[in-house]
Amino acid sequence: MTTDYRLPTILVTGAEGQLGSELVKVLSDGYLIIPAGRADFDITHFEATRNFIKEAQPDAIIHTAAFTDVDNCENQQDKAFNVNAVGTKNVAIVAKEIDVRLFYISTDYVFDGTKEDPYLETDKPNPVNAYGKSKLLGENFVKEQLHKFFIIRTAWLYGLGGKNFVKTMLNLARRGKQLQVVDDQRGTPTYAVDLARQIKKLLPLTSYGTYHCVSQGNCTWYEFALEIFKSPNTRDLKPITIRPVTSEEFSRPAKRPKNSVLKNHMLKLQGLDIMPPWEESLREFMTTIRRNQ
Ligand SMILES: NC(=O)c1ccc[n+]([C@@H]2O[C@H](COP(=O)([O-])OP(=O)(O)OC[C@H]3O[C@@H](n4cnc5c(N)ncnc54)[C@H](OP(=O)(O)O)[C@@H]3O)[C@@H](O)[C@H]2O)c1
Repeated sequence: MTTDYRLPTILVTGAEGQLGSELVKVLSDGYLIIPAGRADFDITHFEATRNFIKEAQPDAIIHTAAFTDVDNCENQQDKAFNVNAVGTKNVAIVAKEIDVRLFYISTDYVFDGTKEDPYLETDKPNPVNAYGKSKLLGENFVKEQLHKFFIIRTAWLYGLGGKNFVKTMLNLARRGKQLQVVDDQRGTPTYAVDLARQIKKLLPLTSYGTYHCVSQGNCTWYEFALEIFKSPNTRDLKPITIRPVTSEEFSRPAKRPKNSVLKNHMLKLQGLDIMPPWEESLREFMTTIRRNQ
């Protein structure tokens, strides 16, 4: 007797990005993955998006594709809204048409940063930059189209693929630059591999809704930089000085929230939170990045 057993099929948008590439690796154990990059379809083109997804017939979609450069989003607001809001709406409409669950990756930057304590899923978003506004619109479109959705808000992501703060710090240090790092914005560095593992845990569940998914703990960008250079894997770099600066001193096109620390409240309430402390994950990443150099 043969058993017809098919692994659940998961379509990952933004599959070549920082989170997407880790999701493809982590989920390959247990799922059939359809990695969709920009060359497969542009999420801002509805027909291309619909044709690809309908052909693939996934059991769920994890939508990570986004225009993630916060300062460029400020300078190119139409593009930010087109990719992050309209693109997400396109993916959500198709998810509804084929009746599959959608996991949409959102951001801590939906909040304005004026709260003293960590933000909960029930706190009211009020983004202060175009990136945050476009991602929030994406969230709203998802909620408008679907009831089988997970909105996963994460923050300060880093991983092997793509650009991120850790790689930028290491590159500047290698070039012998003295570093000035903002010390009045607080958030939670989150390792893309940890987030991929957390999403894997949520994948089979039906407890739909909005979830904060960040590492445990928090720091400022300056404290994050100090922790990077504490790693024994940076010993071969020449000693550098890191100067803490204010957001006003380190002016950027997009305003950032002062406090964007998220609490994984919904995960914790349901006993689902497997996110490690951020310092521990950073140590793991520093070893991985060294091995991959
Ligand atoms: N990075 C963070 O610190 C951070 C923090 C909070 C939340 N998030 C959210 O987490 C998710 C993953 O972030 P990430 O850091 O992995 O992003 P990433 O490395 O920038 O990857 C995003 C991917 O989306 C693709 N993409 C962009 N526009 C597209 C389009 N129109 N059609 C199809 N693909 C398109 C990009 O392709 P190209 O490279 O060709 O443009 C890239 O491969 C995003 O939704 C982001 O908003 C990120």
